[in-house]
Amino acid sequence: MPLTQAREIAPASRLENVRYAIRDLACIADEVAKQGHKILPLNIGDPNVFDFVTPPHMIEAVYKAMRDGKNGYSPSSGIKPALDAIRGEAARKGITTIQDVFITSGVSETVDICLAALLNPGDNLLTPCPDYPLYSAVLAKLGIGLNTYYLNEEDGWQPDLDDIRRKITPRTRGIVLINPNNPTGSVCTRAMLEQIAELARQHNLVIFADEIYDKLIIEDDPHIAIAKVAPDVPVITFGGLSKNYLAPGWRIGWGIASGEASVIKPYLDGINKLLRARLCANHPEQYAIPAALDGPQDHLIEVKRKLRSRRDLTMQWCSDTPRVSCVAPRGAFYAYPRIDIPEGDDVFVTELIRQKHVMVVHGSGFGQRPGTKHFRIVFLPDEKTLTDAYSAIGSFIRERYQ
Ligand SMILES: Cc1ncc(COP(=O)(O)O)c(C=O)c1O
Repeated sequence: MPLTQAREIAPASRLENVRYAIRDLACIADEVAKQGHKILPLNIGDPNVFDFVTPPHMIEAVYKAMRDGKNGYSPSSGIKPALDAIRGEAARKGITTIQDVFITSGVSETVDICLAALLNPGDNLLTPCPDYPLYSAVLAKLGIGLNTYYLNEEDGWQPDLDDIRRKITPRTRGIVLINPNNPTGSVCTRAMLEQIAELARQHNLVIFADEIYDKLIIEDDPHIAIAKVAPDVPVITFGGLSKNYLAPGWRIGWGIASGEASVIKPYLDGINKLLRARLCANHPEQYAIPAALDGPQDHLIEVKRKLRSRRDLTMQWCSDTPRVSCVAPRGAFYAYPRIDIPEGDDVFVTELIRQKHVMVVHGSGFGQRPGTKHFRIVFLPDEKTLTDAYSAIGSFIRERYQ
């Protein structure tokens, strides 16, 4: 006799706190696309959707690995040539006290493993506000409440140190620093890094340094790794192939653990336990890591040229448009303009998709200071697409809020 399912299967209540505004908007865009409209996508941080292509020598390296039979599991931390290349890259960034390196399925998995290996129920982790929603999603999955610190718009979106000091509790285990930042495009000053490192020293915090955009600095100032500034502090620096090397679909990321060996070792044992439990990251794609880090970097010249031109176009539009103001992004490919409107930024974004078919993400999807409203622009599309999109957003603002 066939069995029937009597009751619906409810998901875990922890998931009520998981939000991922970027992808959730896709449902509304689907509706609009079904009506036959072409969507201008200024919402997804995937360079390969636009005119950016993975460097061919990296593709060759992966193809060769597959042909050479590197299709089984790899060691859990990753293959040696790739680990060596990441250590070499860390040394070039001035990170001197490396204690471990491990490769994961994107930085997303590094974050998942590093947070799961650290946090007990009742602990908390400082995360930026606005933030990249991966962090709050992983914390929700672990049943850990949010403890967010503000980025300061008046100070070019640098972390608000006073707010960080106020938020540290006896159960605070670490702090996440996204630098260059998503969603604001800000880059931390050296003085800021030093002050955050000092707070970590005083309060025994692990610093999670998400530096996945470290080669996409639009200005010519160099990126400074916090692990370089704070060689004695436990730091896990996150990097990967998704952004700097234009291969997000390969799902290759890594963590570089630095600090004093005796302090960080027990935590690294925990991380390695979880790395072994999930077997390994994608194997053939790991062969692209030495090709990327030690091979030609020519693509970066072109990528930065495009980003600079598209950032400038974006800033020009922001300063020409009523009700919009924006701190100029210095890194990555995001701008986070403030808008002065009488309704929520979620309504602004939803109506913009419905009426003008342009997709951006509302500030409330990333978190923001109460009373402020923003939206995030991904300025990866070419100049023509950006110009069309900005003209449509400009008309929308004029028509709706005149
Ligand atoms: C700040 C930040 N960290 C991590 C990630 C995820 O990276 P990955 O593709 O390596 O999982 C992203 C993706 O947009 C990001 O913006």
